[in-house]
Amino acid sequence: MRKIAVLTSGGDAPGMNAAIRAVVRRGINRGFKVVGIRRGFAGLMNGDEFIEFKMGSVADIIHRGGTILLTAREEGMHDKLFRAEAVKCLKNAGIEGLIVIGGDGSFQGAAGLQDEGIRAIGIPGTIDNDINGTDQTIGFDTAVNTILDAVNRLRDTATSHERIFIIEVMGRATGFLALAAGLAGGAESILVPEVDFDLDQVCERLLRGIERRKSHSIIIAAEGAVDPFELNRDIRDRIKAETRITVLGHIQRGGSPSAVDRLLGSRMGAMAVDLLEQGQSGYFTAYVDQSLVPVPLQVSGAGKKPFPRDIYELAMDLAR
Ligand code: F6P
Repeated sequence: MRKIAVLTSGGDAPGMNAAIRAVVRRGINRGFKVVGIRRGFAGLMNGDEFIEFKMGSVADIIHRGGTILLTAREEGMHDKLFRAEAVKCLKNAGIEGLIVIGGDGSFQGAAGLQDEGIRAIGIPGTIDNDINGTDQTIGFDTAVNTILDAVNRLRDTATSHERIFIIEVMGRATGFLALAAGLAGGAESILVPEVDFDLDQVCERLLRGIERRKSHSIIIAAEGAVDPFELNRDIRDRIKAETRITVLGHIQRGGSPSAVDRLLGSRMGAMAVDLLEQGQSGYFTAYVDQSLVPVPLQVSGAGKKPFPRDIYELAMDLAR
């Protein structure tokens, strides 16, 4: 195998550029030609989106958020004809191995190409940290720290006005971001899709805080758990306290990647090239028990990632 390609797919995540940089430099150092494919799987169909990378192509990007290869959410990869066309484009370009940096949906696309004879490796890149089979994804640590920065800022004004703040965070259908930011941020309540919502319990915790003369309360709500505006109305109907809502949105996707995400991206990018060089494919680079291991792509979509209920209970216990 002498020519490999790399693309980013799905929601962008801080640290993706570190992974791209590692793929390119490890690949060139191991004697591969490395091609960058712009605009995710859609770019696969368009030879104009293929860029042959040199060592200098990825200079000065390790600290930048986003992805220099641009990205897209590509539904087409579920379609056999679309996949066949993608394989043809790759083979016409002499590309034998493909590294896909993205989430579980992107890994399903990579698995589809693997089935059609393209040697594929996934690198888990999403702020949601919701990929089954890996403890951590590239972008998660930076996003948690971005949320914490926002929580710290909101605490100042919440204290000044003695208010309750409902902060909605991302995570799609999971609560990993909300749990990590809620525990690290000392939130009074953390609402996640994985735990049944109990308005009585939320209000009881708020009232207990008011009785204890807490200057403010913070509720971290995962976007898939509850509608923050409905929650706000429900709380106001029950508690005589001022409330406000902040929806953090895409701020959580930006920013310079943390050291953790730069290190994870660099290590996973290099590992992806090493696996292809060893003739291995059909895996993604997973972070399990503080080690990097190859995990079959199919595992990423085999059910929801287990939610750490023990850590959730700890967070609720410490915020009483
Ligand atoms: O998957 C990452 C993510 O940020 C989710 O947390 C969020 O729900 C979604 O992407 C937003 O998608 P888009 O950027 O397409 O609006």
